[in-house]
Amino acid sequence: VVEPQLESFSQKNLTMVLKMLFFLWLSCLFSLLHIAYSIQEEMKRGSVIGNIAKDLGLQIDALSKRRARIDTEETDKRYCDINLKNGELIVAERIDREELCDEKASCILKQELVLENPLELHRISLHVQDINDNSPQFNEKMIILEIQESTDRGARFIIEEAHDEDVGQNSVQQYSLEQNENFILAAKGNTVELVLDKELDREKQKEINLLLTALDGGSPQRSGTVVIHVTVLDANDNAPVFSQAVYKASLPENSPLDTVVVTVSATDADEGVNGDVTYDFGHVSEDVRKKFAIDRKAGEIILIDAITKSYEIRIKAKDGLGLSSYAKVIISITDVNDNAPIVSLKSLTNPIPEDTPAGTEVGIINVQDRDSENNRQVRCSVQQNIPFKLVPSIKNYYSLVTTGNLDRELVTDYNITITATDEGSPPLSSSKTFQLSVADINDNPPVFEEQSYSAYINENNKPGSTLCSVSARDPDWRQNGTVIYSLLPAEVNGASVSSYLSVNGDTGVIHAVRSFDYEQFRSFQVYVMARDNGSPPLSSNVTVSVFISDSTQPQSQANNFVNALE
Ligand SMILES: *[C@@H]1O[C@H](CO)[C@@H](O)[C@H](O)[C@H]1NC(C)=O
Ligand SMILES: *[C@@H]1O[C@H](CO)[C@@H](O)[C@H](O)[C@H]1NC(C)=O
Ligand SMILES: *[C@@H]1O[C@H](CO)[C@@H](O)[C@H](O)[C@H]1NC(C)=O
Repeated sequence: VVEPQLESFSQKNLTMVLKMLFFLWLSCLFSLLHIAYSIQEEMKRGSVIGNIAKDLGLQIDALSKRRARIDTEETDKRYCDINLKNGELIVAERIDREELCDEKASCILKQELVLENPLELHRISLHVQDINDNSPQFNEKMIILEIQESTDRGARFIIEEAHDEDVGQNSVQQYSLEQNENFILAAKGNTVELVLDKELDREKQKEINLLLTALDGGSPQRSGTVVIHVTVLDANDNAPVFSQAVYKASLPENSPLDTVVVTVSATDADEGVNGDVTYDFGHVSEDVRKKFAIDRKAGEIILIDAITKSYEIRIKAKDGLGLSSYAKVIISITDVNDNAPIVSLKSLTNPIPEDTPAGTEVGIINVQDRDSENNRQVRCSVQQNIPFKLVPSIKNYYSLVTTGNLDRELVTDYNITITATDEGSPPLSSSKTFQLSVADINDNPPVFEEQSYSAYINENNKPGSTLCSVSARDPDWRQNGTVIYSLLPAEVNGASVSSYLSVNGDTGVIHAVRSFDYEQFRSFQVYVMARDNGSPPLSSNVTVSVFISDSTQPQSQANNFVNALE
């Protein structure tokens, strides 16, 4: 059982050994020479690699006789050919180093020169040299990075390196990054890193495109680029910013409730909730909160209660995550002409004597207007056609001054109306009327109604009989106008006038005191004075002529008889 096995083993072994020996002999016989050329890849077809006939010491004419040809061991691709006319080895097929050898540092293409008759085999080694026919290439068209804006300086971001199919110096040797504000490049060996050199600010630039170039060391140099697209993610690094530091609003004092006084506005450069601005009052008094409301979203400040003075309000704008800023709102009230001037009489000399000289101050008037500015500018006047005027004095005071002579006997009372008008639009006015009386001065003497009086009486009259009456008028008031009559003392025929006549002091009726005698005297004159009761009194005189007529009547005769008896 064992033997046949052994036998077949030795038989097999023997044939193998023989075959090997045969090949060894063959190769000793045919591989006479081994020749090597160094060529650049990608040479044109027909380019001369070398003169193989010369290098091998072959006769040119032997080449075609011996049917010289190039063969290849491994592939059926013939990369070179021999020119039988001159023995030159020429390029027959494109020789691409990268296709043949990939990234291997040395690339050898093995070919054989075969001659027949007798059979000869020469090994040709073509050392294919790399030329810089490939550019560095990045894997992706664009490299996308997302980086938070709050990221610290020095942070590193790995970038996938570029590849170059060429080898050695012709492969990627260096990188360069387009000049930019934020990043620098750190390339070490195969790792390429982007290093943050200056902090990012999304609000300044939210997307950054950087051109990264990979360069090989070939000549001419080739390069490949990729765009690194950096998206900067927001961090709440911005507080809201008011459009104005101070907002000023002016509000008419009678503005209705719910009036929007002013709208404040702040912007926040951040995104989303980081940039969501809401408004509120800052630290303000209770009073402010009672008068105004604020719309948190719209920034409107709304009047909710009537106001009478100016306000200064602190306003706060806050973003979603709590960064705040402040502004000031100054609300001033503009006056509306809703108050009429008020005239008040501060003092008045009443009554005033009628002999008051022109230019005398008789009263002081004050005018007030509760509005402001033009609305409180007041013009004041007194009616025409009275002997008074207003003279502006300090501030809102006026003097009421006489402008002419007064005469109680003509006008005893004045109704004085002071009108005050403000300069609002429309203007408001008001007036005040008061009575001013003129006091009497004894400035009129009594005046008799006649220039002179005459009285006629028959002689032998009864004593006490009425002769006539005189009358004088005095327009003054009371005592100053009360007339008292009296006879001016005088003598008539050597006797006192009062022994002839008497006058009733109150009525002015003149009586005979005795019986007159025509034969004694026919007429006489007396003076009657009218005097008022003023102090000092004023008076005037008038003449009263008395005419006595002769009596021829029996009565007279009887009288004469009586006289004769005496
Ligand atoms: C003054 O006014 C009163 C009533 O107020 C009136 O009776 C009087 O006649 C007026 N006098 C003058 C001079 O107008
Ligand atoms: C009469 O006139 C005098 C001044 O002459 C004056 O003082 C007095 O008050 C007057 N009397 C009356 C009742 O008006
Ligand atoms: C009136 O008579 C008296 C006495 O003779 C005199 O003093 C006075 O001046 C006279 N008045 C007038 C107005 O004539």
